[in-house]
Amino acid sequence: MKEHIGQVFTPLKWAEWLIHKWNIFDAWLDGAHICDPTAGQGAFPFAMLHIASQKGVTITPERLSRLTLIERLPTHLEQFRENVKREFGVDFPISQIFCQDIITEIHERKYDILVGNPPWANFGDLPTAYKARLKPFFLAEGLVPDRQKTLLGSSRTDIAALVLKVSLGRLLKKNGVGYFYLPTSLFFGDGAHSGFRNYGARGSHNGVDYRRDFAVDTVYEFTSTEVFEGVGTSYCCAKFAVDTRQEFPVSYFRELDSEWVEHIALPLKNPTDPWRIVQDLDDLNTNTMPDIRLSPEQKPRQGVNTCGANRVFIFGDKPPHLPDQFLYPLATKEIWRQNTSLPCKWILLPYDPQTGKPLTWDEIGRWDTLKTYLQNAQEVLKSRKGTLLRSAINRGTWWALLGVGTYAFAPFKVIWQAYGKSDFTPIVLSSVKGQMWQGNQAMHAFIPCWTEMDAQRIKTALENPEIPILLKQLNGAGKCNWAQPGKIKKILACSRR
Ligand SMILES: C[S@@+](CC[C@H](N)C(=O)[O-])C[C@H]1O[C@@H](n2cnc3c(N)ncnc32)[C@H](O)[C@@H]1O
Repeated sequence: MKEHIGQVFTPLKWAEWLIHKWNIFDAWLDGAHICDPTAGQGAFPFAMLHIASQKGVTITPERLSRLTLIERLPTHLEQFRENVKREFGVDFPISQIFCQDIITEIHERKYDILVGNPPWANFGDLPTAYKARLKPFFLAEGLVPDRQKTLLGSSRTDIAALVLKVSLGRLLKKNGVGYFYLPTSLFFGDGAHSGFRNYGARGSHNGVDYRRDFAVDTVYEFTSTEVFEGVGTSYCCAKFAVDTRQEFPVSYFRELDSEWVEHIALPLKNPTDPWRIVQDLDDLNTNTMPDIRLSPEQKPRQGVNTCGANRVFIFGDKPPHLPDQFLYPLATKEIWRQNTSLPCKWILLPYDPQTGKPLTWDEIGRWDTLKTYLQNAQEVLKSRKGTLLRSAINRGTWWALLGVGTYAFAPFKVIWQAYGKSDFTPIVLSSVKGQMWQGNQAMHAFIPCWTEMDAQRIKTALENPEIPILLKQLNGAGKCNWAQPGKIKKILACSRR
């Protein structure tokens, strides 16, 4: 049986809402051919039939012949046909239903309008065999940055980006349009989604591929309405047009106190950059951004990542049985909340602080307690997932962590809370009894510094009030990507015009 991929069905009410918002029903009555390329149980075609029956519009064979469903899983399509038969007494034509994988299989027909809700799932979280099948398509659509090509397994690109590009490029007639519910990360994610924001899909003409422009026309971002119950991802719906060059600003409506408030969206600096959302062009005041000079070693970074083995590496109290020199204070929210520099947690880093590399097994053998401790955790550590970590494990260093290098042992860190916040408060942390403070995964980001003066200089510059303003415009407040390193890097690069 095929596994479920990114399955979040659209409730009937919200399928109808989107259809009304963009007059898709009228377009259908006027003769448009409409398709949902990842149709699930057919929420959108079902909603069209529902609106027709409410309005007393006859469901003729001709009208049915202009509604098409494409879906990977046959059971969903069977369910759709049953529902339509039960609700409207109509046999939905088999000729309009395609059990296909829209990414890997060819679909010959073309449509005026696409409507739907593509699967939402990170590439990295897909089943392994399916990932391998999709890899060439992610690459062909330019959805992974070059340096990540070989590390595609760790990509955070959403499969929604791939489905959208494939559908827009391959399924639409000239000047066709598409309306979709989508994760907002396509517009605001850094790194992983910049490949989506080249605003080009792959069209095909007589078997020859060509770049096919697409443009985002309008976006509605939901901030409090729960269209999809229990979904943690932030989402929107958007209108796309093909064979049209992307122009900025884009009309961007944000839900505020049950009203749609119009904003405008435009990229931070380069066309493929994440978007900023502002009320009007006067808000685009980046001239007062600080110009912070950083050396190449001072790239903003995330904290240490145990890759799912926090229980092995992280401790509430400093464990007396492990050698002190491998235990480091771990940043926690108390540092910002209570303004304390007493560690609440400790992290074990079996690393050489000079080289930033994992200790060799021989070196570990010099500390019996460390060796025994790691040996006891060997099975757990060896079964951790993630492409980067797997390559360390395959090289024999199964005690490695991610996000550790010489930068982790720099004597000073300008560090801030990077995840789910809406304030940006960089502080300088150095060490506790000679052991440098560490950031915790995506919770914290930092710039390593080798002198206190440099750390203070960078902290002061980062305290510029324009930075949190810009972070909010980049739509990260309260979200996982609030002040992640990639974003801060982009903001700092902006000041260098
Ligand atoms: C988020 S659900 C939405 C379904 C429907 N459009 C709706 O709004 O209720 C996405 C659907 O896409 C299907 N799907 C995932 N990958 C697909 C692919 N490559 N080709 C076709 N369908 C796919 C899933 O099985 C799932 O039913």
